[in-house]
Amino acid sequence: MKFTFYGHASFAVDIAGKTLLFDPFISPNPAASAIDIQQLSADYIFVSHGHTDHVADVVAIAQRTGAIVVGGVEAVNWLKDQGVPHIHEMNFGSCTFDFGRVSFVPAAHSSSMPDGSYGGNPGGFVIATDEGNFYYAGDTSLTSEMQLVPHYAALDFAVLPIGGNYTMDARDAVLAAQMIQCDKIIGVHYNTFPPISIDIEAAKSLFVMANKELLLPQIGDSLIF
Ligand code: NI
Ligand code: MN
Repeated sequence: MKFTFYGHASFAVDIAGKTLLFDPFISPNPAASAIDIQQLSADYIFVSHGHTDHVADVVAIAQRTGAIVVGGVEAVNWLKDQGVPHIHEMNFGSCTFDFGRVSFVPAAHSSSMPDGSYGGNPGGFVIATDEGNFYYAGDTSLTSEMQLVPHYAALDFAVLPIGGNYTMDARDAVLAAQMIQCDKIIGVHYNTFPPISIDIEAAKSLFVMANKELLLPQIGDSLIF
């Protein structure tokens, strides 16, 4: 499994022979200016919810790659109306794909599309494959729903928001890591905008004190699991 960070809450995971891209918000993010979305490949694009900072580049990448866009019913149908050629709509529940099993699980957040239309329920994804398993929480506060994640998969890593204000902060994410029974956490959704700026060293030490690891790759960097 190879994780590659594209800034904010955007990342790809190469797993079981497929490239899964999550929440692409790259071209509007000045910190990710080194990433050219024309160079990204994707077999699937997962959309956690409808907010602009999670869907901005979905249409462009889906049209060029032919990737299947997976997410909540309302969000992916809105994206289809914007020109996405292939969607797979889900609601909370599990579905088997050619690379493995996907569970769309609740996030405690909101969801409207960039034009203000209804975005359905926001969620996260548990991805379970023969090669390994991971969880992406999406935008969410700390929620007891996370206690169910180990039911879906024993996680090799998890991607959690740590920027606070709109989502969990690092302190909350430590407790989330305990609930989901995962020791390797990749922190996302921080330092992109002033309200989510954080003290990186303080965040890392909170995880160390809990005997967990907070991984904060640079934009464009990859991690192998
Ligand atoms: Ni959001
Ligand atoms: Mn967000």
